Amino acid sequence: MKRVASTILPIIAIDRKASTALHRQIYDSYRAAIVDGRLRPGQRIPSTRGLASEIGVSRFPVLNAYAQLLAEGYFESRVGAGTVVSSSLPDQLTSSQPSSTTNLAARPGPRSVARRSPILPGIEAMPWMRNWGAFRVGQVAFDQFPLHIWSTLVVRRCRGMDAQSAHYGNLMGSVALREAIANYLKIARSVRCEAEQVMIVNGSQQALEIATRVLFNPGSRVWMEEPGYQLARDVFALNGCQVIPVPVDTEGLNVAAGIRKCRKAQAAFVTPSHQFPLGVTMSASRRLQLVDWAQHSGSWIIEDDYDSEYRYESLPIASLQGLDTNSRVIYVGTFSKVLFPSLRLGYLVIPPDLVDRFHMCRRVMDLGPPTFIQEVLADFIAEGHFARHIRRMRVLYGELRRMLVNQLNQNLGSIVEVVGDEAGMHLTVALQDGHRDMEVSKRAVRQNLSIWPLSPSYLGEARQGFILGFGATTMKEIPGAVRRLRTLLTTRKLSTS
Ligand SMILES: Cc1ncc(COP(=O)(O)O)c(C=O)c1O
Repeated sequence: MKRVASTILPIIAIDRKASTALHRQIYDSYRAAIVDGRLRPGQRIPSTRGLASEIGVSRFPVLNAYAQLLAEGYFESRVGAGTVVSSSLPDQLTSSQPSSTTNLAARPGPRSVARRSPILPGIEAMPWMRNWGAFRVGQVAFDQFPLHIWSTLVVRRCRGMDAQSAHYGNLMGSVALREAIANYLKIARSVRCEAEQVMIVNGSQQALEIATRVLFNPGSRVWMEEPGYQLARDVFALNGCQVIPVPVDTEGLNVAAGIRKCRKAQAAFVTPSHQFPLGVTMSASRRLQLVDWAQHSGSWIIEDDYDSEYRYESLPIASLQGLDTNSRVIYVGTFSKVLFPSLRLGYLVIPPDLVDRFHMCRRVMDLGPPTFIQEVLADFIAEGHFARHIRRMRVLYGELRRMLVNQLNQNLGSIVEVVGDEAGMHLTVALQDGHRDMEVSKRAVRQNLSIWPLSPSYLGEARQGFILGFGATTMKEIPGAVRRLRTLLTTRKLSTS
């Protein structure tokens, strides 16, 4: 028989001050757990002695309760297995689902939620997010990841674990990893930082959430690139901020337009190295204008530097944070692109005077990042594997990108315009006209294509197009996938009017 944990304390609710007798409380707790499916037929029940000692009562009320449950057929005794939940309970008596789902679904009456939560789109409306077809955005070439090295480091760290490493870790993140990141950022991204300013987070998404809680009030106005990164916009909106869309042109965010719309915004969110989704690199003059605006209007800049390691025609561009002499930039980075997204590790570089505030905000969120995996990553960086991996992947992604651009130009040159392919692991194709991107993206799922529509990246009037990831689409797959995309775009042209 399947072994189950003997301790099932959470289902036994004992209230010593209640007027109900102890044996009745034990009986009621078991019965309720069996009826609503938290205890399943055949599941082992602790001995009367064991339960009495765990919940701190004498054995008599437990014996009484067990006798009653046996008599009523909820429990049965099995030779060699002790007492188990009866396997012959009628189906209608037990739920097939745990109570948490069945009971809630059945309960009538008002079920009010926070006013802001319905502003987020439902996942059902975005089938391309759940599809594993070609061009999936954000997926890396994981078959190239040095898993054997990673596994060795995991095992080594695991063997070295002790009571201290098993306890809560540093709220800001492991010191070794923060030092490794600070060194890397100084050299590779010209970021001005010391390890004390680096906070390890659960991906850049968490970085945005923490920054929002520290910097903004409900109603705070935040400049957002238009089009821009939807998940950043959602964080601001969900926290009650007013998102001010500021147009992006060939030089990146149009700072003058932002000032005209809302000079006194509390912050600007930007992706200057590789604008998401259009792929533009913010020009030097725009960077200086933005930093100048932030200083004069007392605003913050949130720089999301999510994939700048991969740049194909030139060396990686220095960060915006490195240009800012006034400590107005909150710099956000991630390992989701350079390693893999399920790692859920990213980092913030916080202006020195805000470190304490970020620190305390983090405390109420999750008590800090998982220590173990940070230490593995610190080793991976310190031993040179990280830098080697980036170098190899830059070559591979560069080849994939060249192949994809060629194929798109050859097969779809008259229908689409390729933009933003200078960096990163995705590019964008703008549709000339006559197509609705959402509709095509939905149909594409059936063709094993996972193409993100461009239009949801806009708050206002949207351009139609697609964001195509090429990190995990192989050289062999690209020509066929582009042909399938062409068929989709040429066989059923739907009017946008
Ligand atoms: C603009 C942008 N920022 C950040 C990320 C990465 O987010 P995370 O670090 O939470 O995985 C992505 C992923 O696609 C992105 O497109």
